[in-house]
Amino acid sequence: MPSGIILSGGPETVTESSPPSPDVGIYTLDVPLLGICYGMQIMADQLGGEVSISNKREFGLAKVSPHHDQEWLGESTSAASAKKVEFDVWMSHSDKVIELPPGFTIAASSVNAPMAAIIDIDRRFFGLQFHPEVTQTSNGPRILEFFLVQVCKCSQSWTSSNVAKDLIEIIRQKVAGDKVVLGLSGGVDSAVVAVLLHQAIGDQLTCIFVDNGLLRLNEGAEVVETFQKNIGIEVRQVNAVERFFRELSGVTDPEEKRKVIGRVFIEVFQDEANKIRDIKWLAQGTIYPDIIESAGNVHSSAQVIKSHHNVGGLPSSLNLKLLEPLSKLFKDEVRSLGRHLGIPKQLVYRHPFPGPGLGVRIVGEVTKENVDILRKVDHIFLTELKRHNLYDEVSQAFAVFLPIKSVGVVGDNRAYNHVVSLRAVETIDFMTADWKKLPYEFLSHVSTRIINEVSSIGRVTYDISSKPPATIEWE
Ligand code: XMP
Repeated sequence: MPSGIILSGGPETVTESSPPSPDVGIYTLDVPLLGICYGMQIMADQLGGEVSISNKREFGLAKVSPHHDQEWLGESTSAASAKKVEFDVWMSHSDKVIELPPGFTIAASSVNAPMAAIIDIDRRFFGLQFHPEVTQTSNGPRILEFFLVQVCKCSQSWTSSNVAKDLIEIIRQKVAGDKVVLGLSGGVDSAVVAVLLHQAIGDQLTCIFVDNGLLRLNEGAEVVETFQKNIGIEVRQVNAVERFFRELSGVTDPEEKRKVIGRVFIEVFQDEANKIRDIKWLAQGTIYPDIIESAGNVHSSAQVIKSHHNVGGLPSSLNLKLLEPLSKLFKDEVRSLGRHLGIPKQLVYRHPFPGPGLGVRIVGEVTKENVDILRKVDHIFLTELKRHNLYDEVSQAFAVFLPIKSVGVVGDNRAYNHVVSLRAVETIDFMTADWKKLPYEFLSHVSTRIINEVSSIGRVTYDISSKPPATIEWE
């Protein structure tokens, strides 16, 4: 018997002829139940309430006020009873419950959703029109914790320490005495896999780090140093810089560039892996959102916006068994696992960096000279963000090299120099993003540093486009 049931949200409407429905037997199991958005509507419908269809969608932030002592909504009882405590919630629905099922009362309302939260205290059934699982709902974590811990009496055993113990045990059983190869990218996911594997199977693991010449300033050296010196994991560093630049010569089309970088990476990795004898497993830093996205792709005919590639895209021709220990974890869980395993904070909380690296941040042809310029600019921008405590306030920040030159004046002379654009975005899921309103004084300071210190740059611009319609990367 489950300790509780959560009926999640979804894009469907209960007003269509046969909406996706749980078995009505769940309502007589004597098990606590939480319905969220569509989950609340289907619960209300099945239990005798009424749901109305609406063409008008409520989408975005709203304020809800709990009606009376509603500790489960995340406010302390006394505060809630002393005065109505409003809190922010994220709404995303068209339909709404307009008549409560027998036994239910209203627990909270918003301007557009009088039944924003409903409860049947005797049966321990709860319904939320808003989404407690998204960060914009301020009380979301407390609401979910209350339901799971106080109502369902679940124990809080999903901790980094337990997850690490379980994963290490699973890896040991699966791999036994076999050898494993892992491609390190410098990002958090492959780093966590490396440390887990190292703790589980020691030097049966070989890590390969391919330097493609498209990394940020000092990045290759930092990755190798972090792993070899701080964590004690041996890393085979492959210097493939010349080869990548050779193959990228003359390529300007963004998709073509991505394909070249992806192909060369696979060839280099494969050559290196072939040097290690008796390898049986290929470990990858696949995380749960990657699985959701690729499952979606199998069924959808969605247009290819960009062909993504990273170390996860290795081909089956390697003939290795796949080991994906993080495949059930979300990014925040991977990060706390990383901290638990002793991976340095700056690596764990590093902004994401695309597999094709600076290659997709040089608009036009990728040359060594352009990459060197971009690297210096990028380094100044990131260093200043950190120095001004802004790095953790943005989800991703970087510079882009533009394929144009612009006129300027240096002293009494005419100058004709390169142009870069700075980009900083805020996002939760990287599917949509807003450009970051960085302080003008900060941008001015960064621009001055770049123009003073990188002599071939004559102009700095700031990208104020959101996604959509722009994407985060320029290519
Ligand atoms: P876009 O540009 O599609 O980026 O809005 C969304 C997020 O994905 C990252 N990105 C990549 N990551 N391989 C990767 O591993 C890639 O080819 C790739 N392209 C984009 C991008 O940096 C942002 O975080």
